[in-house]
Amino acid sequence: MFKASAEVIYNKRIKKGYFEIALSAQAIAKTALPGQFVNIKVSEGIEPLLRRPLSLHRVEGNKIFLLYEVLGKGTETLSRRKAGEDLSVLGPLGSGFSLHSTHYALHILVAGGMGTAPLVFLAEKLAKGKTLVLIGAKTREDILCEEEFRKLGGEVKIATDDGSRGFKGHVSELLKQELLTIDYGLLTIYACGPKLLLKEISRISLERNIPAQLSLESHMACGIGACMGCVIKVTRAPEHQSTRDFEYKRVCKEGPVFEANQILWE
Ligand code: FES
Repeated sequence: MFKASAEVIYNKRIKKGYFEIALSAQAIAKTALPGQFVNIKVSEGIEPLLRRPLSLHRVEGNKIFLLYEVLGKGTETLSRRKAGEDLSVLGPLGSGFSLHSTHYALHILVAGGMGTAPLVFLAEKLAKGKTLVLIGAKTREDILCEEEFRKLGGEVKIATDDGSRGFKGHVSELLKQELLTIDYGLLTIYACGPKLLLKEISRISLERNIPAQLSLESHMACGIGACMGCVIKVTRAPEHQSTRDFEYKRVCKEGPVFEANQILWE
């Protein structure tokens, strides 16, 4: 983990409510893995107190790219930072996805909402393999990164809650529909998004015996493993999904990526 003073290269609105920020952060860029995140101090003053965790969207040379939705005071403050300013950034943090790009014939990436952001970095690393990307969004206005995935050569399908683009319904339903015509044998799933979506993906993958890695979104305080504010229950016997023999793991430290068969959902 590095603590860097990272210069803002740009900080631009990519669509209503969503921003992309590019930072010069060589030490972080050099070692970052898909699924890891950084913790950003969004202002120079004391307020807001806590750093904001943002997943790594892409890495290019000594630059890191992050996507964020403006939802509260922290991200609103971040959206006002300008090119040339410096931000204090800690990272890369957490564990990333395990990459088995040659092991599987098909990689299915399932993205819900802002969970789309880290899956672009993952798709870059999997570009030599065959990928199917399923993007879930509330409406057509909220679809993120569609073109980026297409440029990387993956097949892309869309699900929107209101049916304004693609499949009408949750992206987990779209996944179930796709799985009707796919041989599970050499298939693996990677997913990132809200808890309810990941819980459903977990159920779908376990029922069909498909290996799946899930990147959890969690409220974080310290973001570096010190406060235990982000713990989840993880089974010690994943092959039986035993609920008796479990331990607590920190989303920010041992996660945010966990195997689907490890997590005991609350
Ligand atoms: Fe403090 Fe994870 S946020 S331990």
